[in-house]
Amino acid sequence: MKPHPPSSPPFPPFLPAIRRLLPRAVFFLFLFSLGYTLGFLSSSSSPPPQPPQFHVQTQLQSQPHDQIPVSTSPSPPVAPPPHDLLRFRTKCADPVPQPDVLRTVLDRVYNGSSPYAGFPPPAIAPLLYPPPHRLRGWGSTKPVFRDLIESVRPLTIIELGTFLGASALHMAALSRNLSLPSLILCLDDFRGWPGFRRRFPRDIPPPLHADALLLPQFMLAVAAAGEADRVIPVPFSTGSALAALCDWGVYGDLIEVDAGHDFHSAWADINMAYAVLRPGGVLFGHDYYTAADDHGVRRAVTLFAKVKGLRLRPHGQHWVLSPKPLDP
Ligand SMILES: *[C@@H]1O[C@H](CO)[C@@H](O)[C@H](O)[C@H]1NC(C)=O
Ligand SMILES: *[C@@H]1O[C@H](CO)[C@@H](O)[C@H](O)[C@H]1NC(C)=O
Repeated sequence: MKPHPPSSPPFPPFLPAIRRLLPRAVFFLFLFSLGYTLGFLSSSSSPPPQPPQFHVQTQLQSQPHDQIPVSTSPSPPVAPPPHDLLRFRTKCADPVPQPDVLRTVLDRVYNGSSPYAGFPPPAIAPLLYPPPHRLRGWGSTKPVFRDLIESVRPLTIIELGTFLGASALHMAALSRNLSLPSLILCLDDFRGWPGFRRRFPRDIPPPLHADALLLPQFMLAVAAAGEADRVIPVPFSTGSALAALCDWGVYGDLIEVDAGHDFHSAWADINMAYAVLRPGGVLFGHDYYTAADDHGVRRAVTLFAKVKGLRLRPHGQHWVLSPKPLDP
C-alpha cells in the first residue's frame, strides 16, 4: 500500500519554544518532505514489474537469425504443399492374367492357403451367431447390382467396405445365376467404426477383448452361402489394400465403393480404386444422396467425374461412373 503524503503538522503559535525552534523545524520538515517526495516520485515512476513475455520477446529478438522466429501477427498465406503430395498413383503394375488373380491374392495375403481352411476355429466357433437368412446391410440388394453385373459381366469384383457381407453375397448370387465365375475381393478392416456395435446388438457377437469379431462373422456367412472359394476377405484398410493390389497388378472389372463416407475417405478410395479399375471397367458406389458427413461421398464423386471427364449417373441410392476409357 502506498504511503499517503504527510499532512501539515498543527502549529500552535502561542508557544515561544516552538517559535524558537521554528526555523529548525521548518528546515527538518523541508528535508523530510523533500526526501519523502523524492522517494515517492522515484517509487511511483519506476517501471512496473515486467511480464515474463516481455523478457522472452527481448531474448528472442536478440537471438541470431537462424533461430525459430516467434511472431504474434498473422502469418502470410502459405504456398500449397508440393503438387505430388496431392496426387494419387494412376499407374499400377502390369495386370496378372485373370486365371492367376485368386492365386496371387491368396499367396500375398494368406501365404498360399485359403483363409477358410479349418474355419471356424474351435475357440471362435461358439462365439459366432448363426448367419441369418438376410444379412444386415444398406441398400445391398438394390437393382444397381443386377444391372451392373449383367452389363459389365465382371470376372473380378473389388468391394470397398464389406461389413457383414450382404452386398458381396448378393453379387455372388447374381453372378452365379449368370454362370459368371466372378471372384469377389472384400476390402475392409472388419472393425466397424467407433460405437457401431450399439446399433446392431443382434447382428454381431460381443467383442473378444478388442477384437470386433466382424471378420469371422462375415466369413461364416460366406461359408454358409457356399461362396468360400470366391468371396475372399482382404482384411486391411481400403487405402493399404488398394495400394497392395496396385503393386501386385490385381485389377477389378467392377469396383464398388462403400467404405468411409466423409469426403477425404471417399476421395482417396475413389482415386485409388480407379487406378486398379481395368480399362472398360465400371466404378460405382453407395450413398450418393446421404446428408451424413456433409455429402462427402457425393462431393468426392462429383469432383472426380469432373477431373477425369467421366459421366456420373445416379442410380437409386447409388452412383455409377461411365466406364474407364480404354486409352486413358
Ligand atoms: C508359408 O507357407 C510355407 C509352405 O507353403 C511355409 O513353409 C512357411 O513357413 C509359411 N510362412 C509363413 C510366414 O507362414
Ligand atoms: C438366383 O437364382 C435363383 C434360382 O432361380 C433365385 O431363387 C435367386 O433369387 C436368384 N438370386 C438372385 C440374387 O437373383
